[in-house]
Amino acid sequence: MKSSLVFAHNFPKAKDIGDEVLVIYDQILAKRSKDFQKWIQSFPLSYPVSAGEELKSVAAFPKHISSIVKICENASSRKLKVLAIGGGSVGDFAGFVASILKRGVGLVHMPSTWLAAIDSAHGGKTALNVGGAKNQIGTFYPAEKIFLVKKLLLAQPAVRSFEGFGELLKISIIQGGVLWKQLSQNREITHDVLWKHLKAAIEAKNRVVQKDPEEKSGHRHLLNLGHTVGHVFEADGQIPHGVAINYGLSFALQWSLEKKIMSQSVYNKMMSAAVMGYLLSPHRDQLISTSPSKIKKYRSLLLSDKKKTQTETVRFIFVKAPGQCVIQEVGVDDILNEMCRQAEEEDIDG
Ligand SMILES: NC(=O)c1ccc[n+]([C@@H]2O[C@H](COP(=O)([O-])OP(=O)(O)OC[C@H]3O[C@@H](n4cnc5c(N)ncnc54)[C@H](O)[C@@H]3O)[C@@H](O)[C@H]2O)c1
Repeated sequence: MKSSLVFAHNFPKAKDIGDEVLVIYDQILAKRSKDFQKWIQSFPLSYPVSAGEELKSVAAFPKHISSIVKICENASSRKLKVLAIGGGSVGDFAGFVASILKRGVGLVHMPSTWLAAIDSAHGGKTALNVGGAKNQIGTFYPAEKIFLVKKLLLAQPAVRSFEGFGELLKISIIQGGVLWKQLSQNREITHDVLWKHLKAAIEAKNRVVQKDPEEKSGHRHLLNLGHTVGHVFEADGQIPHGVAINYGLSFALQWSLEKKIMSQSVYNKMMSAAVMGYLLSPHRDQLISTSPSKIKKYRSLLLSDKKKTQTETVRFIFVKAPGQCVIQEVGVDDILNEMCRQAEEEDIDG
C-alpha cells in the first residue's frame, strides 16, 4: 500500500484524521508547546508515552497494550485509527500497536523528529526491541497517511538537525542524481535545508521500498547503508540513532575506498563536497576503541544485528559512487579489522 503524504504548515483538524482516533504521542511535545497541548485535547482517545528505546522494549509492552485496549474498548474496529505523533521510537511502537489492535486498525503518522519525517515514518516497518537487541520483532504495516507538519518539525531544538541529516545524506547517496547534487552543496544543515529536501528524500526512500516492500528480494537492504556499524556506535556509545548513522556512513565510505569499491578520485570528489565537512564534525575518534573488551562487545553487537545472514557474516552496503551502492556479504571479523584500521588511521591523522 502506498501511503499518501500531506505537507502542511499547521496541525490538521481532528475530524480530518478520522471519526475515531487513538492518538499515541510523545508527551514531550505537550510539555514543549501550549498549542500542541490544546490541539491534542480535541482527540477524545489519547495515550501519551515517553519516547526512547525503553518504549520499544518487549518487556514493557504488555502493560502498554493492556492500557491501550482499555482506552479503546468502546471504539469500533472498523473505524478506529491510530495516529502516531513523535519520533522513530513512537512511530515504531504505535505502528506495531496499530497492526495488532483489534486485529489491525488504520494507521496515520505525524513525525515530530527529522529522522522520523525523512525515514522511519515511511516504508511500513514497525519494531520492538528484545533485551538489548534492537528491532527484533515487528510487522510490515504502512501508514495510510503521513502528515508532515512544518510547525511541528521546525519546533525541534536546532541540534536535532544533525540527527536527521544522517538519514537525509544516506538516502541522497543511495539515490545520487539531483538530490545528492543539491544536498552536497550545503555547508550546514539547518531546519530549513531539511524541510527543503524532505519531499525528495521521502520519494527516494519510497522508490527503494516499492521495489522490495517486505525485504524479500534484498533490494531494500540498500537502506541499511551506514546502519551496520551505526547500530554498534548507537548501542555502545549511547548516542542518538541519527548521530550514530552519520558515523556509520563515514565508516562505510572509508571502507568502500579501502576495498577499492570506490575509486580514490570519486572519494576525493565526494569528500570535498561542502556537506561532508558537516558530516565529519564532531569527530567520531572517541567512539571506536580497540581494547580487547570493546572488540568483544562490538562483535556481539554485530552478531545480534538483524542484518546478520549466516553465522559470523553480515550484508554490508558499500558505495561505488553516489547513486551506485553495492551489497556484499562480509565477515564480522572483517568489520572489526576495518574498525581497528580506521581507529589507527584517525590516531595518526589526529
Ligand atoms: N521503522 C523504521 O523504518 C525506522 C527507521 C529508522 C529508525 N527507526 C527507529 O527510530 C528510532 C530513532 O528515531 P528518533 O531519533 O526520532 O527517536 P525518538 O522517538 O526516541 O526521539 C528522539 C528524542 O527526541 C524527542 N523529540 C521528539 N520530537 C521532538 C520535538 N519535536 N521537539 C523536541 N524533542 C522531540 C523525543 O522525546 C526523544 O527524546 C530508533 O528506535 C530507530 O530504531 C525506525
